[in-house]
Amino acid sequence: MPSNRILIAAVLGLCLAGTALAQPRLGRVATPDEIAKQDITIGPDGATLPPGAGSVADGLAVYEANCKSCHGDKGAGGPMDRLTGGIGSLTSGTPVKTVASYWPYATTIFDYVRRAMPYPAPQSLTSDEIYAVIAYLLSIDKIVPEDAVLSEKTLAQVRMPNRDGFISYYPKPPR
Ligand code: HEC
Repeated sequence: MPSNRILIAAVLGLCLAGTALAQPRLGRVATPDEIAKQDITIGPDGATLPPGAGSVADGLAVYEANCKSCHGDKGAGGPMDRLTGGIGSLTSGTPVKTVASYWPYATTIFDYVRRAMPYPAPQSLTSDEIYAVIAYLLSIDKIVPEDAVLSEKTLAQVRMPNRDGFISYYPKPPR
C-alpha cells in the first residue's frame, strides 16, 4: 500500500540521517614521530635492533639498579617472575619456564625489556644498558661467556637452549 511505502521510506530516511549524525570523531592522523615511538618491534632475526653494545659486567650494574628488586638475586625470581635457571626442565614433570629455559630467541629479550621493563619505567633504559643487562642475564646460565659483549651485531647469533623447542602445526608437519 502506498501509505505503508511512505512510512517505510520515512523510517529509512530517518535511520540514514541518524547514521550520518552519529559519525564517530576519529581524531587525527598520527605524526611520523608518534609512529616511530610505537614502531619498535624486533623480530627473531634482529634486523631492526638499534646500534649499541653492553658487557656482562655493565649488565650486572644495570640489573642491580633496575631489576633486582623485582626479579631477585641473579634473576632467580621473587617477588616477580624468575628469569634464569630451569634449563633442561621443560620436558620433566615440573617444567620451570624462564627466559633462559624457554624463550627461543635472545632478540626477543631486547624487544620485551625495552618495551616493558623496568616495570615502573618502560622504555627508560638506553640501548647499551639493554644489551648489557641481557648479557648479564644470559651469562648466569652460561648461555654467553663471562666476557661477552652483546650488540646489534652479536645478539641474533646467541643460541638460546630452547631454540628448537617450538613446533608449528600450520602447515601440519608430515607424519
Ligand atoms: C617493579 C617490579 C619490576 C622491575 C623493577 C622489573 N620487572 Fe621485569 N617483570 C615484572 C613483572 C610484574 C613481570 C611480569 C609482567 C607480565 O607478565 O605482564 C616482569 C616480567 C619480566 C620479563 C618476562 C619474564 C617472562 O618469562 O615472561 C623479563 C624478561 C623482565 N621482566 C626483565 C626485567 C629486566 C631486565 C628488568 C630491569 C631492567 C626488570 N624486568 C625490572 C616486574 C618488574
